[in-house]
Amino acid sequence: MGGDVVPVIAVRGVHKTYRRWRRPSERAVDGLDLEVDEGGVFGFLGPNGSGKTTTIRMLLGLVRADRGDLSVFDRPMPERLPEVIGQIGALVETPLFFPNFSGRLNLELLSDVAGLPRLRVDEALEQVGLADRARDRVKGYSLGMRQRLGIAAALLKRPQLLILDEPTNGLDPAGIREIRELIRSLGASGTTVFLSSHLLGEVEQVCDRVAILSHGRCVVTGSVADVLATRSTGELRVRVGDLAAAYDVLSAAGFRVARDGDTRLTVTAVAEPATVTATLAERGLYVSELTPVTVDLESVFLGLTQDEAADASAETTT
Ligand SMILES: Nc1ncnc2c1ncn2[C@@H]1O[C@H](COP(=O)(O)OP(=O)(O)OP(=O)(O)O)[C@@H](O)[C@H]1O
Ligand SMILES: [Mg+2]
Repeated sequence: MGGDVVPVIAVRGVHKTYRRWRRPSERAVDGLDLEVDEGGVFGFLGPNGSGKTTTIRMLLGLVRADRGDLSVFDRPMPERLPEVIGQIGALVETPLFFPNFSGRLNLELLSDVAGLPRLRVDEALEQVGLADRARDRVKGYSLGMRQRLGIAAALLKRPQLLILDEPTNGLDPAGIREIRELIRSLGASGTTVFLSSHLLGEVEQVCDRVAILSHGRCVVTGSVADVLATRSTGELRVRVGDLAAAYDVLSAAGFRVARDGDTRLTVTAVAEPATVTATLAERGLYVSELTPVTVDLESVFLGLTQDEAADASAETTT
């Protein structure tokens, strides 16, 4: 990170507890720190109830933090929101449109209210791939089309920062793929996209960087590659004819080996897969399959939170 580069979003030590009538209060965000640099797609990931929407609401001045600091484009939120709101496009939860009006008319109304030129409407419809359905009534739109219209609405002001809260919610795999492509192209075109999702595995392909939330705090953040590397075990699946012989050869050579069913071995902590092949080949054993076991964000998350749970139970037993 360059020393004087100001992050697009900065969150420091933010807490938010919802107080509820006659029910225990709900700690939604619990000491969150977050930094999002300019450009690309930032994945704000975490399971249901981990505090994603609450954080986004705080960034947009829709709810107030109990303590901590939030800023967008270096302006403290919500105090100086008016100065930057013109550069922020947001889609938080399902957007509402007039069902009897066309997609285009809905956007035209929004652009008029915002004092934007009508030209932007066509631009935005084009960007989300809705141009040829723009004259149809919204009530005839599929969920995916409505979601795209919502993104078009957020794009009207050509925002430098686009905040999308679970934009693929309720979509089928084809719809998810469409939105994913759209987000990828927006991120590549210079917009900073802040994308929340509870589907950790679904979005890892579009994100450049991620933060993973658990119970209102960030458990890991960084580039997708770095985050995956924290869990990469260097694990290999090896298929070979004489399993017992291969097992002996590899253990004797100092590899950590385990049987994986009747046909494969698992070798862990291997820095260079070729060493496994070479070791076996020297003894006349030939590998018919060698597959690195890949990790995804989901398993990184599960691993981290299991560690946390294990630490917690270790604390209670000592
Ligand atoms: N208005 C509210 N009043 C009371 N509790 C709330 C309110 N909004 C959210 N919560 C609680 O705060 C916690 C965090 O909710 P939040 O909506 O921020 O999570 P999320 O990560 O967006 O989840 P999801 O993936 O389901 O959208 C949850 O336990 C939720 O029940
Ligand atoms: Mg949410």
